[in-house]
Amino acid sequence: MASAPLAPLIPLDDGRSIPQLGLGTWPLKDREAEEAVATAIGLGYRHIDTAAKYGNERGVGRGVRGAGVPREELFVTTKLDGGYQGDDRAIAGLEDSLERLGLDYVDLLLIHWPLPKRGKFASTFRTFKKLQDAGLTRSIGVSNFKPAHLRTLIDGTGLTPAVNQIQLDPTITREDHRAFDAEHGIVTSSWSPLGGGAGATDLLAHPLITGIASRLDVTPGQVVLRWHVQAGLVPIPKSKNPERMRQNLDVFSFDLSAADLEQLATLALGPGAGVDSDRTGH
Ligand SMILES: NC(=O)c1ccc[n+]([C@@H]2O[C@H](COP(=O)([O-])OP(=O)(O)OC[C@H]3O[C@@H](n4cnc5c(N)ncnc54)[C@H](OP(=O)(O)O)[C@@H]3O)[C@@H](O)[C@H]2O)c1
Repeated sequence: MASAPLAPLIPLDDGRSIPQLGLGTWPLKDREAEEAVATAIGLGYRHIDTAAKYGNERGVGRGVRGAGVPREELFVTTKLDGGYQGDDRAIAGLEDSLERLGLDYVDLLLIHWPLPKRGKFASTFRTFKKLQDAGLTRSIGVSNFKPAHLRTLIDGTGLTPAVNQIQLDPTITREDHRAFDAEHGIVTSSWSPLGGGAGATDLLAHPLITGIASRLDVTPGQVVLRWHVQAGLVPIPKSKNPERMRQNLDVFSFDLSAADLEQLATLALGPGAGVDSDRTGH
């Protein structure tokens, strides 16, 4: 299968950059993850998203190491599990992830969930800075952080995450989160960018999306991923199907018009839609 052109790089505030589209790997098990990651890299993906919690870092690492692309051309994200927050425990958390991945460093380390009731995310992020200074992660960021969590983090540490990875799709648009991230130079990345699992099936069957797709001669998934890309977001769609993987990466050579974007904006469910990260997380 022909590979798609590489995703463009988006600059991060720490001087590094992130490929604007990556492969999600949850809920793939080790063996599926290894195959999916190797296939994706062969198709042109250069950005892979995993997490300690996914239980697939060994498979992801094998896929990354076996893909035949130099390590420095790849961007690997992992996420610290909640049990490793606070008291410099993130050092052991990242060391364990690196051992499972079989890598010397990751490109991006994220706090997976803020877990605000525990009150440990700011101290955890200070430890992240030590890990960045030690070269064990190139960039440091967070996931599922609301503006209030970020305000506490920035005020408490004097540090600003390079990335905030949150649930986003045309129905869950979190304008307030994106505005806060943008004001602070934080790149916003979209998880479940296609609506996630069964949600993806529903979203991609929406007549408004299928209508735009047939007019532009692209797939519904490409319409939704192009919506993320045109908004400056970094989507990480998961697929284990090579043809869908190829389509998902091939979203950099067509445009949604202003009228298309206006129509897609009508799908937004408004504030409060999606997972509430004050209540969820592990
Ligand atoms: N930070 C966090 O807390 C967090 C939370 C959830 C997820 N994530 C990350 O975000 C990634 C993506 O989220 P997600 O997996 O929940 O949802 P998603 O990427 O929005 O949707 C994945 C689903 O869509 C299907 N699919 C993929 N491409 C498609 C296409 N072109 N047309 C039709 N169906 C398609 C996939 O099936 P096939 O595999 O059969 O193609 C799968 O069922 C995860 O894998 C994970 O890495 C992060």
